[in-house]
Amino acid sequence: KEDVFVEDLLSKMTLEEKIGQLNQRTSRWEMTGPAPKNNDSQDQLEEIKQGKVGSMLNVTGADATREAQKLAVENSRLGIPMIFGYDVIHGYKTMFPIPLGDASSWDPEIVKLSAQVAAKEASAAGLQWTFAPMMDVGRDARWGRVMEGCGEDPYLASVLSVARVKGFQGENLSENNTIAACAKHFAGYAFSESGRDYNTVDIGTYTLHNIVLPPFKAVAEAGVSTFMNSFNIINGTPSTANPYLQRELLKGQWNFEGFVVSDWASIVEISTHGAAEDLKEAALLAIKAGSDMDMESNAYINHLAELAEEGNVDEKLIDDAVLRILKIKYKLGLFEDPYKYSNKEREKELIYSKENRDASRTVAKRSMVLLKNEKQLLPLSKQIKSIAVIGPLAADKDIPLGSWRAKAVKNSAVSLLEGIQATVSPKTIINYSKGCNLTLGDRGFRTKLSYEENDKSGFSDAIKAAQKSEVVIMAIGEDCWQSGEARSQTDIRLKGLQLDLFNAIKKVNKNIIVVLMNGRPLAIPELAKDADAILETWFAGSEAGNAIADVLFGDYNPSGKLTISFPRNVGQCPIYYNHMNTGRPSAGGNVFWSHYTDSPNTPLYPFGYGLSYTDFEYGELTCSKTTITKNESIEVNLSLTNSGKYEGEEIIQLYIQDPKAKYARPVKELKRFKKVNLQSGESKNISFTLKAKDFGYYSPEGEFLIESGEYYIYVGGNSQEVQQISFSIIG
Ligand code: IFM
Repeated sequence: KEDVFVEDLLSKMTLEEKIGQLNQRTSRWEMTGPAPKNNDSQDQLEEIKQGKVGSMLNVTGADATREAQKLAVENSRLGIPMIFGYDVIHGYKTMFPIPLGDASSWDPEIVKLSAQVAAKEASAAGLQWTFAPMMDVGRDARWGRVMEGCGEDPYLASVLSVARVKGFQGENLSENNTIAACAKHFAGYAFSESGRDYNTVDIGTYTLHNIVLPPFKAVAEAGVSTFMNSFNIINGTPSTANPYLQRELLKGQWNFEGFVVSDWASIVEISTHGAAEDLKEAALLAIKAGSDMDMESNAYINHLAELAEEGNVDEKLIDDAVLRILKIKYKLGLFEDPYKYSNKEREKELIYSKENRDASRTVAKRSMVLLKNEKQLLPLSKQIKSIAVIGPLAADKDIPLGSWRAKAVKNSAVSLLEGIQATVSPKTIINYSKGCNLTLGDRGFRTKLSYEENDKSGFSDAIKAAQKSEVVIMAIGEDCWQSGEARSQTDIRLKGLQLDLFNAIKKVNKNIIVVLMNGRPLAIPELAKDADAILETWFAGSEAGNAIADVLFGDYNPSGKLTISFPRNVGQCPIYYNHMNTGRPSAGGNVFWSHYTDSPNTPLYPFGYGLSYTDFEYGELTCSKTTITKNESIEVNLSLTNSGKYEGEEIIQLYIQDPKAKYARPVKELKRFKKVNLQSGESKNISFTLKAKDFGYYSPEGEFLIESGEYYIYVGGNSQEVQQISFSIIG
């Protein structure tokens, strides 16, 4: 039915109208008012009316999307509705934890819930499409966009990205509370050299096939509607102009039926990279490579018709791109009712509802990672007599919203201080002091961040607060605009006076709980040594303070684990658990082995690491068989006991290693995980089933190999503390 409809529509379209469908524009004016008289706005107004814009981004709200849609539907010859896209990354108005945060739950249902609520709110504001999830496997803490992904592991990123796509898209795209998802950035973007955003990418095809591509393949198989390509080059070819990635793999081998949107101006940038003469050649390369929609390059609208008329672009390529876009519009139900998402009542009722904020709190508390808990300082009693709440982030109501915050209202988050006030006994004395500033002034678009490095005037007040309190809760970390797009950093230590403040407080109070808020791993060896407890809370969203208080005061036992390694210092970046063995992995009694002379190789906190208020004991690891053939499976069993005094959840992780293969393999690769809830004293038998193909990998040419030989299986509570067992694949 859908094919017949879109084929029929295509047959009625002129070349110009077809190219219009491939053109995506950001709004040049507030759609609820008249277009300003300047040329830019007037041109855009005319383009939309003439059916030359197939999609818009950054138009939000039931009224604005309705007005914009009217321009297309009521004025253009065929009345084809536009599709409205927006960066709904971790919520629309109700903010959820940043994706790196909710990924730390290792819980697909939690990640799905976050996306579901975001879709519910965005769809009520007239949107049908989000530019998420980002599934770039991120290994480099300097790169600001690690906050937007699932961390450093391709398997975990696959499982969680599929959950996110399901959350956004639901079972049926035509429901009015679901939106189309977009798998981005295809491909390799996170590997920008030295962690500098938009920088050159130079990875081998072995890394491409085994690390970068698996999450994209997983979401393509799960039915994601769209893909976004990436800004970077791979092997000298910009991804936007890469036919191997987009045509051969994605639309060929993976059978992807949706459409590919370029990243913002990434078609123009083919020429800026130096891989095209001008915009016209960039348009030619992009359409040939399979980039279907042009986001803000004006390349297709200005040059495709000419290229087709000259015979340089086969109109069939344009038709294919148009059909892909029309099909998604059809699936969304836009041809039935172009205004169905622009519904004032739904907008009023659904956005920022109590129910959505409760969901955000649920996700937020499950995203937090307990990094240290000496003397079992946590959880705190709600009856505690006095607490000092100190630090530049302690009372901040904006920073927990994170970057990529869509329509969040400035200063709308529950601060940590407010969360604590709402949780403790009315008799508890709370001594609040900011201590120092972490000022970024005018946020969003500053390229250089500034800090008040010398102003220690707040220290004495903070010291007094600490002196008269039983414990100190100290909120430090990053400003939310230190991470995100174009927010790369060469120094990932605590900025400004935060560490000085910590040291000053430590001198007067021996019970310091650090609450970290940040969008990337930080190098915090001093805190790891001297803080008594550390809770990583990321940027936890609208309900941040309440969710953090839930964890600090024991209403929720923390269960998150890191999905990205925390380095000891920035010089270790990129650092990741699934590295290769190297030819010289350990000391042979001399200096000539792969190491630093001023730092251990290991991270400060490894991938998979996170504590609980309770303790878990791992029983002996057994395998159902010692050998299997390439068509068989193996079962791995163990028991897990909660030997501590609280109910709690443990994330049991299973890694494999192929110690001798045709191509060198990583020292560990995550292949399964399970999150299990146990009452105090309870034991459970845990079982994992692995097929022979789970031990396979891609050759540098992209051929999938399953090799016979011995394999190691490791199981444990993080990537470093594991038990080992081995078995063989034969035949
Ligand atoms: O979706 C984003 C992308 O991730 C980075 N460039 C801009 C796009 C649209 O805002």
